[in-house]
Amino acid sequence: MQNLPEKLLKKIQLREKSNILRALPETRNGVDFISNDYLGFSRSAAMFKAAKEVLKTYDIQTNGATGSRLISGNHKLYTVVERELARLHNIEEALLFNSGYDANLGFFSSVPQKGDCVFYDELIHASIRDGMQMSYAETYKFKHNDLQDLEVKYNRLKAKGKINGTIYIVTESVFSMDGDTPDLEMLTSFCESNKCLLIIDEAHAVGVFGKNGTGLIQEKKLEEKVFARIVTFGKGLGCHGAAILGSNALKQYLINFARSLIYTTALPPHALANIWVGYKKLARREDVEALQDNIKFFKAQIKKHKLEAFFIQSDSAIQCCLIPGYSKTKEIAAQLINKGYDVKAIASPTVPKGQERLRFCLHSYNSVQEIEEVLRLLATFV
Ligand SMILES: Cc1ncc(COP(=O)(O)O)c(C=O)c1O
Repeated sequence: MQNLPEKLLKKIQLREKSNILRALPETRNGVDFISNDYLGFSRSAAMFKAAKEVLKTYDIQTNGATGSRLISGNHKLYTVVERELARLHNIEEALLFNSGYDANLGFFSSVPQKGDCVFYDELIHASIRDGMQMSYAETYKFKHNDLQDLEVKYNRLKAKGKINGTIYIVTESVFSMDGDTPDLEMLTSFCESNKCLLIIDEAHAVGVFGKNGTGLIQEKKLEEKVFARIVTFGKGLGCHGAAILGSNALKQYLINFARSLIYTTALPPHALANIWVGYKKLARREDVEALQDNIKFFKAQIKKHKLEAFFIQSDSAIQCCLIPGYSKTKEIAAQLINKGYDVKAIASPTVPKGQERLRFCLHSYNSVQEIEEVLRLLATFV
């Protein structure tokens, strides 16, 4: 076996020394305040069975996709599911990708061109950052959820004659590590006034917000004002994959230029059957409503235990308790885990240094007693 180069070993040691070395966790069996499976769809036996029925209906008995979508992998469920996604999300077209990571990488590496500008929220997801790094466009960050900062930076660059080409603005409708939301109405009106194209990552809004859990853009009826939406299925839908929602022309462009779509084996048929079944269950609304009730209850309990000052304001399924200093965050997480509650301590570089936090993911299947107890314990530990 060949050894890892010395300089890479040093990087591991540095992380170890700083107490932020990542490792793959063991599967835990505590009360779930950690997974992105907001509605419990990943564990639904009925959905597992229903997905099999979909495959039977379409007479599909294959395990894998057999190739890229542009070669042999574009099996018939792709057309069916993409058409359904476009209808449910009230948009011209949907284009499926293997994951949200792939969708963002494909979009941001291929759409913004040399001479274009991308403005992005400083806390934007790593997949968008990675995509932008592969692009020749100029990129500028603005302060988190701070539209005024965006405006100041935009105007300053414009005055210097540095705003050329097409202007893209990208943010998330629910931030993955904060759970908060930008002012989407103001953002869309800024984009309209300045002829900017807006991209919204809805990874953590699907299954949580909107009629039938279709996301915040639809809840706010802003579909027409957004250039592209990214919806992902590994979170609220409990399965796998993602889609970019936009115009017919955007879909055609991505099929031709998004390398993370072109140069990879397509999703297998059962993954698409899962997505389809997931959207059917969303439409029944009972799970989304149960989740929304739990979010309200969690927030009321934060108040009751006088923990408001610790929590980032959020109406989503992601609720974060700031506990600066990773040793302390980890220690409190360990105490909760000891009591049977799975929570995640989040450290730098995932979040900025000094903003370490406990991240609670809420679910439709968390009971009122579990929520009451985990926050009662938290109040005694912080
Ligand atoms: C905001 C956001 N976008 C995209 C992704 C990537 O999605 P996926 O897990 O499907 O690759 C994530 C997942 O962590 C996310 O939080």
